[in-house]
Amino acid sequence: MNTTKENLTVEQKRALLKKLLLEKKSAKPKPDTGVTSVSPPVKSATIIAEKDYRAFCEFDQFPEIEAFDQQFVMLDQLNIANPYFRVNETITNNRTIIDGKDMISFSSYNYLGLSGDKRVSDAARKAIDDYGTSVSASRVATGEKPLHKELEDEIASLYNTEDSIVFVGGHATNVTVIGHLMRPQDLIVFDDLSHNSIIEGCVLSGARRIPFPHEDFEALDRILQENRKDYERVLITIEGVYSMDGDIANLPAFIEVKKKHNALLFVDEAHSIGVLGKTGKGIREHFDVDPNDVDLWMGTFSKSFASCGGYIAGKKSLINYLKYTTPGFLYSVGISPANAAAALMAAKLIKSEPERTQRLKENAKYFLEQANEAGLNTGKSMDTAVIPIIVGNSNHALLLAHRLFENKINVQPILYPAVPDNESRLRFFITCDHTQEEIQFTVDMTAKLLTQIQEENN
Ligand SMILES: Cc1ncc(COP(=O)(O)O)c(C=O)c1O
Repeated sequence: MNTTKENLTVEQKRALLKKLLLEKKSAKPKPDTGVTSVSPPVKSATIIAEKDYRAFCEFDQFPEIEAFDQQFVMLDQLNIANPYFRVNETITNNRTIIDGKDMISFSSYNYLGLSGDKRVSDAARKAIDDYGTSVSASRVATGEKPLHKELEDEIASLYNTEDSIVFVGGHATNVTVIGHLMRPQDLIVFDDLSHNSIIEGCVLSGARRIPFPHEDFEALDRILQENRKDYERVLITIEGVYSMDGDIANLPAFIEVKKKHNALLFVDEAHSIGVLGKTGKGIREHFDVDPNDVDLWMGTFSKSFASCGGYIAGKKSLINYLKYTTPGFLYSVGISPANAAAALMAAKLIKSEPERTQRLKENAKYFLEQANEAGLNTGKSMDTAVIPIIVGNSNHALLLAHRLFENKINVQPILYPAVPDNESRLRFFITCDHTQEEIQFTVDMTAKLLTQIQEENN
C-alpha cells in the first residue's frame, strides 16, 4: 500500500495517529521511579546461534530502536512536523527565530532573560580571554581558576549557607552527589514526580528507594514511621517547583517531617531559584525558612543563571568532602571559564535586579489568569515560570503544538509516556521579557485552536 501523506485522507491520518498513540499506550508507562531497574541480568537458558547475535549487536535490530524509528515515519505520514530538535537561529528568550521566522517562544528556561544579556555575554567573553575555553583538568588537579571560588562564594551567599560546590552539569550534579552520599544500607524517599536526574542518582547509590505520592508529606511521614528504624541514613528528595506542573513544594511541612524522623532533606531548585521569593532567592525566601533546615540545596545554572552547570550549597564539612571525593567532580573537568563567568554575572544580576523576578511573576500570574478565563486547564500551576495547558490526550496535544507553531508560537508538547495520556499537555515556560500582548495572543490562539481540534475529533 502506498501511504505517502498526499494519499491519506484526513480520516486516515487521524486513524494512523490514533494507532500510533494507542500502540504507545498499550505498553504500560514506565514509572519514573527507577525501582524496577535494579533486577539482575537474566541468564539465557538456551545457546544463541551465531547468526542470531545480530539482534543483540546491530542497533537497527534492537526492538526498541525499530519501534522508536517507526514513530517518526508516522509523524511524516501525518504531515506533522517533528516538534523536537527545532533549530533556534538566535538567542531564545520571549522570542526566537526558527526556519527564518520570528516567533513567540515559550520553550526556553531563560526565565530571567539573562541569556543574551550583554553583561553576561561580556563576562563570558572576558573569561575566555583570561583563562581559555576550557580549564583542561579536574579542579582538584590543575583546573582551578579564580572564577570557581568566586562563583561558589556567590552561590553560598545566595543561600546563606557556609559553602557551595559547582559541577559541570545540573543533571550530573544530582546523579553524582546522591549516588555518592547514599549507600545500600540507606533509604531514599522521593516524590513520585521527581526529575530523572534525582532518580538516576538514587539508583546509582544502591540505597532502598521508596516513592511517595506527589507533594504528599503526610504519606512521606507514614513511610518513615514504618521504615526509618531499618536504615542508617535517610534522604528525602523534593523539588522547589516541579517541572511538569509548575507547583511549589510545601517546604515547611517537609522540613517538619525530616526533623521528626532524623532524615536529610535534599531540595532541587532547578525551577525555583530566581523564580520564587521576593528577590529571586528561591523557595527558601518564599517560605522564609532557615537555610540550615535543608541539608543539600541543589540547583542548575541552565535556567535563571543563563549558563550550564549545577551546584550544591550546604555545610562546609559536606562541601569539602564532596570536593575531594565526588566521582563526577573529582574525575571530571571543572566548569568552563565562560560558563562559570556567565553564571557568576547572572547570580550578581539576580541580586541587584530583583525586578526581573517580579516581572516574571507578574507574567506568570497574567498568563494563568488569562488561561483560566479562557477555560484552559492549567493544572496545579501556581504563578511559577512553568505553566501547563492540560489537553487530555496525546493526539490533541501534538496537533495543538503543531498548529500553534504554524501561527508562530513555539511551545513543546508533553505526551504519553512522559505523562499519562489523559494528562498530555503543552508546557509553557514564561520569561520576564514576555509582553502582555504576546501572552494574550498566545492564550487566545491556544483556546481557539484547541476548540477547533476537539470539534474536529468529536
Ligand atoms: C528538576 C531538575 N533538576 C535537574 C535538571 C538538570 O539540569 P540541567 O538541564 O541543567 O542539567 C533539570 C533539567 O531541566 C530539572 O528540571
